[in-house]
Amino acid sequence: MTEKKNLPWWKDAVVYQIYPKSFQDSDGDGIGDIRGIISRLDYLADLGIDAVWLSPVYCSPQDDNGYDISDYQDIDPMFGTLADMEELIAEAKKRNIRIIMDLVLNHTSDEHRWFLEAKKSRENPYHDYYVWRDGAEGELPNDMKASFGGPAWEWVPELKQYYFHQFSVKQPDLNWENPKVRREIYDMILWWMDKGVGGFRLDVIDQVAKEPDRKITNNGPRLHEFLQEMSRETFQKGDLITVGEAWGANTENAKLYSSPDGSEFSMVFQFEHMMLDQQPGKEKWDLAPLPFVKLKQCMAKWQRELYGRGWNSLFMDNHDLPRIVSRWGDDKEYREESAKMLATVFHGMQGTPYIYQGEELGMTNVKFEDITHYRDIETLNLYRERLENGYDPDDVMRSVYAKSRDNARTPMQWSAEKNAGFTDGTPWIEVNPNYIEINADSERRDPDSVFSYYRTLTHLRKEYPVFIDGKFELLMEEDEQIFAYTRTSSEGEMLVCANFSGEPAKCPLISGWKDARELIHNYHGDVTEELRPYEAVMLWKAGEN
Ligand code: GLC
Repeated sequence: MTEKKNLPWWKDAVVYQIYPKSFQDSDGDGIGDIRGIISRLDYLADLGIDAVWLSPVYCSPQDDNGYDISDYQDIDPMFGTLADMEELIAEAKKRNIRIIMDLVLNHTSDEHRWFLEAKKSRENPYHDYYVWRDGAEGELPNDMKASFGGPAWEWVPELKQYYFHQFSVKQPDLNWENPKVRREIYDMILWWMDKGVGGFRLDVIDQVAKEPDRKITNNGPRLHEFLQEMSRETFQKGDLITVGEAWGANTENAKLYSSPDGSEFSMVFQFEHMMLDQQPGKEKWDLAPLPFVKLKQCMAKWQRELYGRGWNSLFMDNHDLPRIVSRWGDDKEYREESAKMLATVFHGMQGTPYIYQGEELGMTNVKFEDITHYRDIETLNLYRERLENGYDPDDVMRSVYAKSRDNARTPMQWSAEKNAGFTDGTPWIEVNPNYIEINADSERRDPDSVFSYYRTLTHLRKEYPVFIDGKFELLMEEDEQIFAYTRTSSEGEMLVCANFSGEPAKCPLISGWKDARELIHNYHGDVTEELRPYEAVMLWKAGEN
């Protein structure tokens, strides 16, 4: 038997990510808010999730939708008040749901008090909270670029200095070399822990130990020293889930990040699988078909390498990624089948699954008519830059349709009512017009819906410990259509088998599983050695003893 009692709680948990701006509006201003989230907690409890990761709700000028924080210890009036936040934590707790806050510690907003002080003078006590370099106007310290376009350096004439920003000019990087900065951060984290939050998601955390003079951003030399100090000073004093966002993670450093001794985080978000459908060495906008065999090898490598030595997070969607059913499934003829298939493949692996709002409904990418309907700073900058560089606008729009972050940011589709039941006012970004057909109201009533399928998956995880400790083995490695693997523990063996394509696919190994128990299946009728388009199944054979 798995010693479930000795496991950290997050090992059999399912986390749900909320992007507050687009989840539920309660006051008609067209922007989702905390009271809106409170009103939907029963929906989340019904889905069977254990924790909610809340994208940032702190005070922010919203240059990057809240990832530019001007006060870590207060809530932006657009989202509500600190009292609303406290109520959310308490109401969620009543339903056994913990709240995970998003910590953006690599940078603040340029409107944060620290930065306003820092740019007053070189002698200001806050000056050294940020990363400055001397220079002359127009002569940048080096040619580093910011993630949202343009140089990574911004000139402040009063100081005759540049400050460093890996993201927008309104997101100056914090100087983690300064122990005072780290102390401020730890005190702030402890303050949130005191409020009863269940954990933290740490934004671009592998970029905090930057060394711009050597052009180092990810995985700087002092990174793990800083993270271990933070964990000691804060997280280890509570019973938390912590997950670091690390675009530069590989299986080696992930063993440090997610070491079972708890010295850093519970787990990281790594993105190796999410960068496969782009041209090598180029940007995400430079589209390429998904190399399916590589995807399987990549997932299998992470499963194998972290087994007993770390812990995976399992995700396909978030607020920065396009909708998975549009990306790797078929959002037309086989929308429901393919959405369920993808969930089967991901939820069957070892790790903690994350469901991004609307994924459980099979929500799809959006195709707005033209760029004026888009809101995301990254998308808008990309469009401008590529047009300036002579790209064909239709080509750029194709990239936007495939990869824009706004695909995931259209309002949650609650019902077939006006604005999908998201707001009575004018939504800050338009609703995907397919809400009439895809919405929570109708899916909750339908036992065959994507929603009902996700609900079954979250419950299975609690019933079968093999989800937590079963050892992973990839089968049919070279097959171009089938994703198949087993998970084996002392209690038995689980087979996950899926047709990742829109054509029928031969899967001979099914014959060895004729008497197995069907845990979940996205088609009616028996599963045979020929899988139908996007057919997926999980089968279970109990062990002898
Ligand atoms: C992370 C966030 C993204 C944000 C960026 C800068 O990647 O997920 O939304 O724009 O960090 O904070």
